[in-house]
Amino acid sequence: MSASSKILCEAEKPGGEVGHANRFSGGAGQDYYAPVLCGPSTLGALAAAPESLRAVLAVLELLEPDDYGLYLSGFLRAGMQTFGEHWRYADICTACWAAARLLQPRSYLEIGVRRGRSMSMVATAAPRCDLVGFDLWPPEYAGMKSPGKELVAREIAKTGHRARLEFVDGDSHVTLGEYFSRNPGACFDLATVDGDHTEDGAALDLAQVLPRIPAGGVVIFDDIAHPKHPCLAGVWRRALAAHADFRDWTFDELGFGVALAVRMK
Ligand SMILES: C[S@@+](CC[C@H](N)C(=O)[O-])C[C@H]1O[C@@H](n2cnc3c(N)ncnc32)[C@H](O)[C@@H]1O
Repeated sequence: MSASSKILCEAEKPGGEVGHANRFSGGAGQDYYAPVLCGPSTLGALAAAPESLRAVLAVLELLEPDDYGLYLSGFLRAGMQTFGEHWRYADICTACWAAARLLQPRSYLEIGVRRGRSMSMVATAAPRCDLVGFDLWPPEYAGMKSPGKELVAREIAKTGHRARLEFVDGDSHVTLGEYFSRNPGACFDLATVDGDHTEDGAALDLAQVLPRIPAGGVVIFDDIAHPKHPCLAGVWRRALAAHADFRDWTFDELGFGVALAVRMK
């Protein structure tokens, strides 16, 4: 195992507790396979399936509307009405909902929360999951208003979430390191990296987060097909090349694209 992919999670220590559902052991006999039961193709299939699209639409209806949310709802409705059950589409929202639905994570880390849209998907699908969100909380992001963490807390409350919600304010390139110094054994069953979209910044965030995912855990990376961020697909490929224990699934044919990866051992 390379130093960069060294497991840093308490949950991996002997006797440690694994939070998510993605594990199999035969019990007394020999375990022939790696302990993971659900790989990226299962998660990806649900992320792009009508069940997720309907669930995401329902969450979007709960949330305070903004331009992009309204556009996304219209896009999802049009795709489903026009192409019915055959239509396949995935993005950060459907990936978050599907991964949380199948994995039932106990802990979720998100870099780049903004209005809490993707975090609300996790909170809806896994209401008992502790949520930790990192953001700079600027008043505007990409030309759109970002009302801040007070709005996010209200949005998460609407989902029926019943576990811890924590915000870490500031530049993730500083605050992630500080967070992991304070919590050296911290690991996350599910994580989303959607903060700094520069090539170096996104790579740095992924490098910090990947070692904090236990076997069976999942990381989601947004915007791999975003026309304004053409570097991100390469950032994702290089990050996974440096962390051989992960297997990924990507969707880049519609929208801004999304990737997810499961730690297989
Ligand atoms: C694309 S938005 C996140 C959207 C959210 N994940 C969703 O889908 O609902 C990106 C967010 O990352 C935050 N961000 C950008 N650079 C950051 C950094 N270096 N540290 C922390 N947050 C950052 C921005 O403030 C913004 O709120």
